[in-house]
Amino acid sequence: MTDKNISPKLPKEFLSDLETAIGAKAMITNLDDIAPYMVEQRGRFVGETSLVVTPKTAGEVSDIVKLCAEHNIGIVPQGGHTGLVSGGIPFVGDNAIVLNTSRLNKIRAIDPVNNTMIVEAGCILQTIQEYAAKHDRLFPLSLGAEGSCQIGGNIATNAGGINVIRYGNTRQLVLGLEVVTPTGEIWNGLRALQKDNTGYDLKQLYIGSEGTLGIITAAVLQLFPKPKEQQTAILALKDLEDALPLLNLAQSMLGDALTSFELLPRIGIDFSLKHGQGVVDPIAGRYDWYILMEASVAITHSNLQELFESYLETAFERNWVQDGVLAQNKAQSDSFWLLRENITLCQRPEGGSIKHDVSVPVSSVPAFIKTANEAVQKMIPGIRPHPFGHLGDGNIHYNLSQPLDMDKQDYLNRWEEVNRVVHDIVHSFNGSISAEHGIGRVKRDENQHYKSPVEMQLMKSIKTTLDPKGIMNPGKLIPEN
Ligand code: MLT
Ligand code: ZN
Repeated sequence: MTDKNISPKLPKEFLSDLETAIGAKAMITNLDDIAPYMVEQRGRFVGETSLVVTPKTAGEVSDIVKLCAEHNIGIVPQGGHTGLVSGGIPFVGDNAIVLNTSRLNKIRAIDPVNNTMIVEAGCILQTIQEYAAKHDRLFPLSLGAEGSCQIGGNIATNAGGINVIRYGNTRQLVLGLEVVTPTGEIWNGLRALQKDNTGYDLKQLYIGSEGTLGIITAAVLQLFPKPKEQQTAILALKDLEDALPLLNLAQSMLGDALTSFELLPRIGIDFSLKHGQGVVDPIAGRYDWYILMEASVAITHSNLQELFESYLETAFERNWVQDGVLAQNKAQSDSFWLLRENITLCQRPEGGSIKHDVSVPVSSVPAFIKTANEAVQKMIPGIRPHPFGHLGDGNIHYNLSQPLDMDKQDYLNRWEEVNRVVHDIVHSFNGSISAEHGIGRVKRDENQHYKSPVEMQLMKSIKTTLDPKGIMNPGKLIPEN
């Protein structure tokens, strides 16, 4: 460890006690080495700290937290650093260190009979999926960042993704947790039980708490039988409204085999074809809206293909679908999903993009998009709405690309103003201003604007009860006053 960059705000005694507890190798203090931990995917903010710690065990996390509590130093837990609301970096003036969970990455156990797996917070989501698959099981959480995001972060933010319609959010996929509390105690709640009705469900309090109540160090995950047959289709629609009866028809004809029902706008497909690598347009004509849907079953020799074909036939007959392709093999289905992933990635080269991650009741999605499009066009003529995402969950990434002839910074300067107009519309539909990305720092004040004083006060009481010193992820989720 070199002390050339240590901020004077971190007391010498704290640093030497920390070095004794976790060793110099687990302390990053050189600003050049710290820099990558401060840069976020969306690049809107850059964090500031003089220390990143990388503990290897829950015991080390406990030692770190105890020392931070003693010296009143904030701790920002950080996983794979793929979050989208600036929840994983300290801001200037936070006087906080970063606790990165990358080295806390053991798979502790798998119990295929119980359909559970115990993993540490730093395990990469894709590693968990692959390990489960090797045991003929499925861990269904799936999202664009799965190759680098960590399960601790997924749990702390209650991540969503593309399979929520069938398996639920992360909240539904966790049976137990191990957590280091803000006083440094280790709560071992690693229970692998389907039924446990013994009082407050504490794990649910930590899930989605964004590191503000404690540090998740390990979890018991719920596994499922591995799908044996899968059908994927991309469908072109004339009107967005047709997506609703199409979804209902899928639910009645495919039942709970339906695993994904994603909305893609034409503008997104155009961006992906223009900027993406290896992306192809699966349908010859041009339509305003597309649905990418998937169904799967965990039994072999099922009649899924027959059911899916008859579903598509009915949808065409009723004129809800104008054109469509049912993937003939895994490679074709992968190419549909590549198109979907590029919808997320390929907005960047098109200039400034003002983002929203909202949900409304599924039945209100078309009306929400229409109302919001009209409102933002009025505010900024030429703005290019790019709504996409998890239509089956009522969760739309209502992103807005800048007008072609506008200066990028002038456009981005209107971020908050546009957010407020869109969020007011979401609110009028009884929706949520953060469906799956969380609150972090970016949406903290906006969240307070929409939540009732009673709800805000209940959240603040929980925070002050569990973390009276306010050292856990300071400044995130809960407004300071
Ligand atoms: C997605 O569903 O692709 C992401 O949650 C969206 C995003 O990165 O905005
Ligand atoms: Zn999403």
